[in-house]
Amino acid sequence: MIRYWWGGKLEEEYSVHEYDVVVIGAGGAGLRAAIGASASGATVAMISKSMLGKAHTVMAEGGAAAALANKDDRDSWETHFRDTMKGGKYLNDWRMARIHAQQAPDRIRELEQWGAVFDRTPKGLTSQRNFGGHTYPRLAHIGDATGLELIRTLQQKGIHMGMDVFMEFTVRKLFKSDGRVTGCFAYSRNDGSLHVFKAKSVILATGGATRCWEVCSGSWEYTGEGYALAYWAGAEMGDMEFIQFHPTGMIWPPSVKGILVTEGVRGEGGMLRNAEGNRFMFDYVPEMYKDEFADTEEEALAWVDEVVSGKLATKRRPPELLTRDVVAKAINSERDAGRASEHGGAYLDISWRDEEEVKKKLPGMYHQFKELAAVDITKEQMEVGPTAHYVMGGVKVDPETQETCISGLFAAGEAATGLHGANRLGGNSLSDLIVFGKIAGEHAASSAKKISEFKEIEDSEIREVIDDTLAPLLRQEGENPASVVSDLREMMQKKVGIIRTRSLLEEALVDLDELEARSLGVFGGSGKVYNPGWHQSLEIKAMIDVSRMCTLAALKREESRGGHTRDDFPTPDHSHWGKINSLISMSDDGSMQIGFVSYPPIPNELKSLLDLEDLHEEE
Ligand code: FUM
Repeated sequence: MIRYWWGGKLEEEYSVHEYDVVVIGAGGAGLRAAIGASASGATVAMISKSMLGKAHTVMAEGGAAAALANKDDRDSWETHFRDTMKGGKYLNDWRMARIHAQQAPDRIRELEQWGAVFDRTPKGLTSQRNFGGHTYPRLAHIGDATGLELIRTLQQKGIHMGMDVFMEFTVRKLFKSDGRVTGCFAYSRNDGSLHVFKAKSVILATGGATRCWEVCSGSWEYTGEGYALAYWAGAEMGDMEFIQFHPTGMIWPPSVKGILVTEGVRGEGGMLRNAEGNRFMFDYVPEMYKDEFADTEEEALAWVDEVVSGKLATKRRPPELLTRDVVAKAINSERDAGRASEHGGAYLDISWRDEEEVKKKLPGMYHQFKELAAVDITKEQMEVGPTAHYVMGGVKVDPETQETCISGLFAAGEAATGLHGANRLGGNSLSDLIVFGKIAGEHAASSAKKISEFKEIEDSEIREVIDDTLAPLLRQEGENPASVVSDLREMMQKKVGIIRTRSLLEEALVDLDELEARSLGVFGGSGKVYNPGWHQSLEIKAMIDVSRMCTLAALKREESRGGHTRDDFPTPDHSHWGKINSLISMSDDGSMQIGFVSYPPIPNELKSLLDLEDLHEEE
């Protein structure tokens, strides 16, 4: 324990810890990374903002995508690669998409060996279900609680590996020396104690930032600290304009707005209808998917019949299984055309399927609607609408190692970018976490092995972050941080939401400056013990900087693609924007700067797996 006099009056103290590898974040990516690092012989600390086990990973309900080919033997890693690239509108890092498609099946089998109880096919194999953008039934699942089971399994495995877990800690700064990460500073949300972690490698597995939007599927932890920590430390941030609005969140009653309704509902045959009773998705099949999706209800129903009876589907898929960006925008367009459901969304109907099947395949959804909305989904339609669910952008990483441009700093899962391009396919997030979590953990451990001594962290740097952390408690008065956060979320929803324009984005940047100015004077309340006002005061800076990254990148990208739609540039521009990815970093004067980069060209053997006309190479 180290003590010092602070502000001339208050004595502060902090604890110092030393670990080869510090993993920040304890969702699927963090847990898998910690297991990988531990298995490689590193001492590991895992820092979790929330209670262990409470992670956004559980919001990936419907399954983990992996070409196991259990339900349809035509599936292969090559098709998974192709679907991921096509779904991402070809802005993906093809190297990550290849690694992911090739390694996902082994990671699923490994989870089974570690005790995950996946649903089974009649032959006893891991069952797989259909999801948007996947050519074949590909999502290994546990009812509609796949993320939860994944976390349970990894947690159980992880704690037996001997890692130390610091629960309900928030990390506020990464330390660096000579261009390499040397540790981080955190405080305990329970008792306010202060902690310096010295580390030889650090892994960011902090998930995303969808709490920056008013309607979202993420819970309170999702405020983007991981992105901000990386950016403040000098890392590069890619593709921050691409935000996924999952088409089906609950919209009624207001208290549950945003809570996820799994895509598994549509995978099991759920139909979307507008206020006039029309199955509107038939009107929204994009040109690039015309060959793959049914254009009549008869064909769509025949596909479900084939799938339900366990045959290999020969018909084209129902249009509800288009990618999320397409479905979310379609629901939006129906609303704008005056055909919304009673509370401004669309109707989702699974009640036409057998009641017992629905309860068996979607038990979580059955209870969620029964308890939260008094709707029996086996008999009635659900009401749904888009909800901010995922950030495709994130920290730029090396595809083979997950190391960022800062030596010793790694990122995995939603914290990193590259795999998903402009739009993520449902189910690719859980497989992303376990594939790249493992890679990050192992490489972080081997990088740590090359460092003989823990580096000293400058006292002045520690003092600076402690001062900053305690500042909201020292004010005698100020604005309630909750009102700044609430205004931020409302603003982002209106101005940087599903549909964007230059003027809205420019206004948003001005609003963010104003919100930042307000945030400097918020009053965190008094006392460090169980003080949510203090925590929220400290989260705002990250939320503002992450919102600014998204807004700036969205302003610059003058086209519409995947999770980024500009009303003033409504079509994709394949010849220019379709070939470049945004890159945000901090300039020497501390301001946010943006540039654009491209991944290396796709090699011919992989290109041959793609739909060549989609690549628009001649343009
Ligand atoms: O709809 C869902 O179950 C979400 C899955 C995902 O985001 O991957």
